Amino acid sequence: MDTNVQKRREKKSLRVKVISLGNAEVGKSCIIKRYCEKRFVPKYLATIGIDYGVTKVQVRDREIKVNIFDMAGHPFFYEVRNEFYKDSQGVILVYDVGLRESFDALDSWLTEMKQEMGSQANMESIVFVVCGNKVDLTKRRVVDESEGRLWAESRGFHYFETSAQSGEGISEMFQAFFSSITDMCENGGKRPTPEVNAGFTKEQADTIRRIRNSKDSWDMLGVKPGATREEVNKAYRKLAVLLHPDKCVAPGSEDAFKAVVNARTSLLKNIK
Ligand code: GTP
Ligand code: MG
Repeated sequence: MDTNVQKRREKKSLRVKVISLGNAEVGKSCIIKRYCEKRFVPKYLATIGIDYGVTKVQVRDREIKVNIFDMAGHPFFYEVRNEFYKDSQGVILVYDVGLRESFDALDSWLTEMKQEMGSQANMESIVFVVCGNKVDLTKRRVVDESEGRLWAESRGFHYFETSAQSGEGISEMFQAFFSSITDMCENGGKRPTPEVNAGFTKEQADTIRRIRNSKDSWDMLGVKPGATREEVNKAYRKLAVLLHPDKCVAPGSEDAFKAVVNARTSLLKNIK
């Protein structure tokens, strides 16, 4: 067969499987509905087990047939969900920016998935996109963008701020998601690293997280209460080098750097 004809034929037949994951009521079904049906349903209709749908999308010169398995987030449906993890090329991980526990639960969703995939688990061959959803409800927001972005990008996942209600971020998210899945399939199943991940280290990401969660200024600088000026300054210099906004592009580094500067100033005021 003429190789060009063969290539064209091969390009037509990409089929992928994607799943949605995240706590109940965070908006997984609404995100999918907004994309596929261009509408929003304000009433909560919990997914019972799994909802299945198919959609076709165009990525560059390729038509992609996407099988979407929209999972129920409620723990009650664990037995149903666990059948469906296998053979996914893409995962949409969703949390509600107004509910911290839904953000904290992202790790346990990854754990459940790995467990259920068993020896088949190859997370490097799956594209993940994280959605910080319900950004339209600005007053109740408790997880800010940099925190969500840091969690996602430090794992090599995409991050998007979305609202199924207003449509914000939805088509951009799906576009990036399907485009990465296509790249991965064309690259023999190896997940392309999003460019955004190239610019910062695990140490920087972990330090920003630690600073966010610190209980006081001593803790923030990583020194014992009652430390000397020299110890405070030494700890400060180390963090400043690691997090200086000119050098560190990790999400949240600017705020972490400012917090460290303030912590040092307030500690030095009280040390003779
Ligand atoms: P399960 O199927 O139980 O796992 O929940 P789910 O994650 O699929 O949640 P679903 O999409 O059903 O949405 C839950 C509730 O949140 C519904 O009342 C939606 O209308 C509402 N909702 C979803 N996305 C948004 C959003 O972006 N903004 C606002 N304001 N409400 C949203
Ligand atoms: Mg649902």
